[in-house]
Amino acid sequence: MEQLDWKNLSFGYIKTDYNIRCYYRDGKWSSPEVSDSEYINVHIAATGLHYGQEAFEGMKAYMGEDGKVRVFRWEENASRFIHSAEGIKMAPVPPELFREAIFMAINMNRKYIPPFGSGATLYVRPLLFGSGAEVGVKPSAEYTFLVFVTPVGPYFKGGIKPVNMMICRDVDRAAPLGTGTFKVGGNYAASLRALISAKEQGFSSSIFLDAREKKYIDECGPANFFGIKDNTYITPKSESILRSITNKSLMEIAEKLGIKTERRRIPVEELETFEEVGACGTAAVISPIGKIVDPDMNRIYEYCRDGEPGKLTMQLYKKLVGIQNGDEPDEFGWMTVVE
Ligand code: PLP
Ligand code: COI
Repeated sequence: MEQLDWKNLSFGYIKTDYNIRCYYRDGKWSSPEVSDSEYINVHIAATGLHYGQEAFEGMKAYMGEDGKVRVFRWEENASRFIHSAEGIKMAPVPPELFREAIFMAINMNRKYIPPFGSGATLYVRPLLFGSGAEVGVKPSAEYTFLVFVTPVGPYFKGGIKPVNMMICRDVDRAAPLGTGTFKVGGNYAASLRALISAKEQGFSSSIFLDAREKKYIDECGPANFFGIKDNTYITPKSESILRSITNKSLMEIAEKLGIKTERRRIPVEELETFEEVGACGTAAVISPIGKIVDPDMNRIYEYCRDGEPGKLTMQLYKKLVGIQNGDEPDEFGWMTVVE
């Protein structure tokens, strides 16, 4: 293994030694198999390729100062993976098989887990797709579930430095009764026009509004949105966003810290009244937002004028990351040691 520069990793793919594969055939899941190949042999008529029968998860393994490796709320990812599978009529992966496969993938690639204090983590990517052949539009009878891992640094450049985002009004990532709450590849394909347009204009990400009325904030590319004002953490209620496990956890942390929480619709104009805003997710952790531009409405909302994240954002960040790294007591029972 070449020596990795742990402190300067980006959020990208680095080859590790092994990945795990399971197959669903004749109504049953096979036991996990270990592979050292980065490639899969896929049928040319697989429904995952043609009709988007594909879902994934994203989680991280953290190296603690005590040398123990922990994962964060894996049961939540397992249950969202089932929600996504059912949402596009795929065979769901039982939680016990999910746990076994992610633990195997982590354990077999221990040397790629970034050291404590490096700021980097081992990203764990479970993936499920229809691998049986069909030509008519229908769910596959066969599925492939695989898990690979890769060491990663921060998703948004700068880590906890504020980033700028752009409201995108000419693209919807998901329809109100569509697939927005499922973590399926199609939603990410649908988001790419907005992402590229935001990037071309110098922004880190696009912010999506509700598809029906274009009045309310939905989410920030691959992360949920939150705003803070009057000691209250406010995050969108919407039927077309992913239910972020990080967001749910931040709400629990906020309550514990004496910060009120609200999950409700957030009209775009309310952006003007927030003291702090940010994006949160497994990959993004917490990314404070410095500026939100709404080009079609000719509006700019500014935060963090001193270039630093806001006070409550930092408090939430420190607590979350402290728990994940094992520096803070796991008072919510969120961490599982990978043995
Ligand atoms: N929203 C979208 C669209 C995402 O892809 C993600 C990443 O998983 C999130 C939100 C954040 O969810 P979580 O905190 O569970 O990672
Ligand atoms: C995550 O936060 O784990 C994600 O899945 C975001 C992403 C699509 C890179």
